[in-house]
Amino acid sequence: MDNGREQWGSKLGFILAAVGSAVGLGNIWRFPYVVYENGGGAFLVPYFVAIFTAGIPILILEYGMGHKFRGSTPLSIARANKKWEWLGWWPVVTAFFILSYYSMILSWAMKYFTLSFNKGWGSNTDAFFHNDFLQLTSSPFEFGNFIWPVLLGILLIWGIGWFICYKGVKGGIEKLNKILLPTLIGIIVIIAIRGVTLEGATLGLNKLFTPDWSRLTDPKVWISAYGQVFYSLSLAMGIMMTYSSYLPRKTDINNSAFMTAFANCGFEFLCAIGVFAILGFMATSQGVGVDEVVSSGVGLAFVVFPEVFSAMGAWGSILGALFFISLVFAGLTSLVSLVEAITASIIDKTGWERKKVVSGLCIVGATISSVFATGAGLYLLDIIDNFVNCYAIVGVGLLEAILIGWIVKPDIIRNHVNKISYFRIGKWWDFIVKFVTPTMLIIMLVQSLISELKSPYGGYPLAATLVYGWAIIGFGVIVALLISRKPWENKSSDKNEEDGEVVI
Ligand code: PFF
Repeated sequence: MDNGREQWGSKLGFILAAVGSAVGLGNIWRFPYVVYENGGGAFLVPYFVAIFTAGIPILILEYGMGHKFRGSTPLSIARANKKWEWLGWWPVVTAFFILSYYSMILSWAMKYFTLSFNKGWGSNTDAFFHNDFLQLTSSPFEFGNFIWPVLLGILLIWGIGWFICYKGVKGGIEKLNKILLPTLIGIIVIIAIRGVTLEGATLGLNKLFTPDWSRLTDPKVWISAYGQVFYSLSLAMGIMMTYSSYLPRKTDINNSAFMTAFANCGFEFLCAIGVFAILGFMATSQGVGVDEVVSSGVGLAFVVFPEVFSAMGAWGSILGALFFISLVFAGLTSLVSLVEAITASIIDKTGWERKKVVSGLCIVGATISSVFATGAGLYLLDIIDNFVNCYAIVGVGLLEAILIGWIVKPDIIRNHVNKISYFRIGKWWDFIVKFVTPTMLIIMLVQSLISELKSPYGGYPLAATLVYGWAIIGFGVIVALLISRKPWENKSSDKNEEDGEVVI
């Protein structure tokens, strides 16, 4: 224990937890499609540029902040600059909304896991998913009935999240990741190997990786790369700062950042290979082009893939079960990281006991999530996810870079991480935090705003994007501002040990 703060059992435990947070649904169902859509093999250029000029530098920034200031995101930010404390609360409030739909998706995945054994989704997977299973209504304002199996799954997922975080950092989160992450890698390796040995797999892989170099001149491709890297590494969500605050004083930050990024990246590639090999098989067996079967997100996982599994015989059940359980495992480690980011912030602010905080938080979270177990759940997920990704994550990331780059000054963090890391980062890092990352994030923000003003996201009525999108962004900022006016009650959080000075 350091200043009463919990600690990881080992550095490996920390890295596994950070990778567990990074590896999530985004790796499995988002990355393959982003590559395909943005120039295939050519996308690797902007992707790696984004990893080196934003992903790893911001990871170092977040690890460095959490480690130097030894606090959850709001506490670390408040210690860096009291006026900016609200910026630490914004992702914490937003995390609640992400959790509400994340738990819903995991609930679906659990149900589909059980359906895989007898391919219980039938022959029309689209109709089964939207009509029979979700009972999707015709508008985001029409809630329809409670979908009991979904509700049950949501409660179960929250129950698991509660149990893990209740057990604490070392006894819960670290243990979970130590078990789930290697298991997950094993499962994805099996899926990828089986995938590439299917007939037609090369068709899918060629489609995925054949480079279209002309796309590199399209700014949208670069924006997608930065968006994917930010989302995939769970940056700007309050997670990485919280996780690194549980590291011992002597630890290697720079190396950890590189390891986290590369592990996540390797996992993404494995997923892309598995997904496109399977899509190649599907296109071949239906005698159509890969372009006609390709999809991402919910459509890929719950409509297209079940159809492929149905066409596969006995292997279909095995691959189906493996695929859906991998979604649950990948999602669970990300979900737990969000719960922990909120928990740590509340504990730091109030001094309440972990067990009470986690229990209260999970009850509130499960209650909010139950709204998603209705016929409007899919619409809510779609709108909230878009607004969180386009505005909250990008907004927080931008402000974080501005705060450290221009107000706190980057050398404070750079000197701190260099003092404890095996290899040092140079002044290039300051340049990236000050100029490169903010520029990219501003471009992303402006681009999203322009397309939003042209027509509301996803063709939804304006009222729906106002209520479920903009209101959530506004709510996050306002609540963050309000919380930041309250004093820090946790006595153990009022000292910044390293500098020996009372900061808050
Ligand atoms: N990093 C996760 C993924 O790639 O799926 C997604 C994610 C989870 C982003 C949790 C943000 C977050 F807070």
